[in-house]
Amino acid sequence: MIVPAAGTGKRMQANQPKQYLRIDQRFILDITLSRLMSSAPFAGCMVPLHPADHWWPETEARQDGRIQTCTGGSERACSVLSALHALAEQVRDDDWVLIHDAARPCFHTRDLSNLIDRVYSHPVGGLLASPVADTLKRASAGELPEVAETVNRSELWRALTPQMFRYQLLVDALESALESGLPVTDESSAMEFSGNMPVLVEGRPDNLKITVPADLELARFILSRF
Ligand code: C5P
Repeated sequence: MIVPAAGTGKRMQANQPKQYLRIDQRFILDITLSRLMSSAPFAGCMVPLHPADHWWPETEARQDGRIQTCTGGSERACSVLSALHALAEQVRDDDWVLIHDAARPCFHTRDLSNLIDRVYSHPVGGLLASPVADTLKRASAGELPEVAETVNRSELWRALTPQMFRYQLLVDALESALESGLPVTDESSAMEFSGNMPVLVEGRPDNLKITVPADLELARFILSRF
């Protein structure tokens, strides 16, 4: 398993990266990692960290011998690739690797097991995703955008994590997408660029990625219901 945690989280406007903000005294990263590690029998976990990270030594996770760290990169995809390279000696080419954002502590364990069950029998891999509920507008360019069109949402899903792929297929897909300068905002997009179409597994829409300050209270509420 890989849990990228090397971001700086600028949109949170906080003094530290969002994965090191606290919910009920605990780092978000610790909540995410402890929920993951107790949800499924993972062989281990690699956590890419920012080169200037100085919070990791304060985490609960650092005491878990199954969790290793490596240095992340400038983009999320680079951090994931760096973690995949760090795992090279420990995995086989066709091993499954699960990737989950540190900033998503509110995933549901049933969604995680549904994803694993569904993906095991799929040739490419897959991701949790949620059908879009809102009406979507494409905006015109410019400082005061106007509606250019309403987009048909019936085939649109929001990509979530965890996502799960075979080790070497994912390494190859990420390397070639990054080398080509393609926008890689999740693992699935790299696989798609390589012509391998992942399966969508419906997950709960409240698996939010903590991104802006208001998300913290929402995450606290969701976690209090587990
Ligand atoms: O910034 P964003 O919300 O897309 O980040 C999603 C996850 O990817 C976070 O857990 C963040 O720490 C991680 N990340 C990373 N390396 C980066 C940027 C983001 O590991 N360079």
